[in-house]
Amino acid sequence: MDTIFSDALKQRFGVAAAHDIDDYAGLADATLAAAVLRRRTHRRYTDAIVPDALVRLLCTAALSASSKSDFQQASLIEVRDPAKRAALAAPFPAMPWIGYAPRFIVFLGDARRLEQIGELRGLPQSNAGLEGFFNAAVDAALALQTFILCAEQAGLGCCPISVLRNHAPLVGEVLGLPDRVFPVAGLCFGWPVDAGHISMRLPPAITLHTDTYQTDGFAAHLDQYDREREARNPTPASKQRAPDVFGTAEIYGWSVDKARQAAQPEGAAFPPWLRRQGFTFD
Ligand SMILES: Cc1cc2nc3c(=O)[nH]c(=O)nc-3n(C[C@H](O)[C@H](O)[C@H](O)COP(=O)(O)O)c2cc1C
Repeated sequence: MDTIFSDALKQRFGVAAAHDIDDYAGLADATLAAAVLRRRTHRRYTDAIVPDALVRLLCTAALSASSKSDFQQASLIEVRDPAKRAALAAPFPAMPWIGYAPRFIVFLGDARRLEQIGELRGLPQSNAGLEGFFNAAVDAALALQTFILCAEQAGLGCCPISVLRNHAPLVGEVLGLPDRVFPVAGLCFGWPVDAGHISMRLPPAITLHTDTYQTDGFAAHLDQYDREREARNPTPASKQRAPDVFGTAEIYGWSVDKARQAAQPEGAAFPPWLRRQGFTFD
């Protein structure tokens, strides 16, 4: 196996999974895919300026992402006003990077624009159903990921911020969001202070299927993934999630952590706010 890919695959998917993945020998390491295999999220940044022209370039690249039906339902707001930044960051003291990242852009699903276009062209229609919401959310997510990949390729570090949605009414007020326009995620970015680390993904044995969805060996693959991930980055007992609710587990790993996280759902304020924004989800 090509050693450069092999190393990246091991880092990303674990030793056993990397051996199961096809031999990539002969494929150029300079492909975007090779860089994406090694990508990582960054939450700490230097004070160095991120030039406006670069941010503009990345925004235009993001808005070049694929768009469902060419409806173009993503909009971006860069938050430059320090008072607005502080207001958005205030509810999240556990995520200080929201306030201190050099730059912060909010990626919006914009289901309103299509309605405005219909009105202007004499074909007024509602885009407030599930289809309108979903398409706008997907467009915004594609723009977000396109921005991230281009920014990382330029040496920047990024961290998406979906917790914003937990305070959607505040975000709507601070950013002056009209009806049918909603935040998908914010994005912190700047020049990273360190190399960061590659976050291990579930093995393709679980996530990559051919022809039919299959679940064979799921529990065993998951156990193996947990073990390898813990061996790399052990979770000290003091870092277990919500021990006051769940106790301290003897064996802890990604799956226990995610099960605990999912058992404490967040974002209850988002659906009622979306309905107030006019979405019916029909
Ligand atoms: C849509 C989305 C929302 C996210 N929201 C947050 C967030 O609110 N706060 C945060 O610190 N990280 C957030 N993240 C970053 C993830 O925690 C991170 O991507 C994940 O741990 C995997 O790390 P990696 O991107 O380096 O592989 C988000 C990522 C995505 C894709």
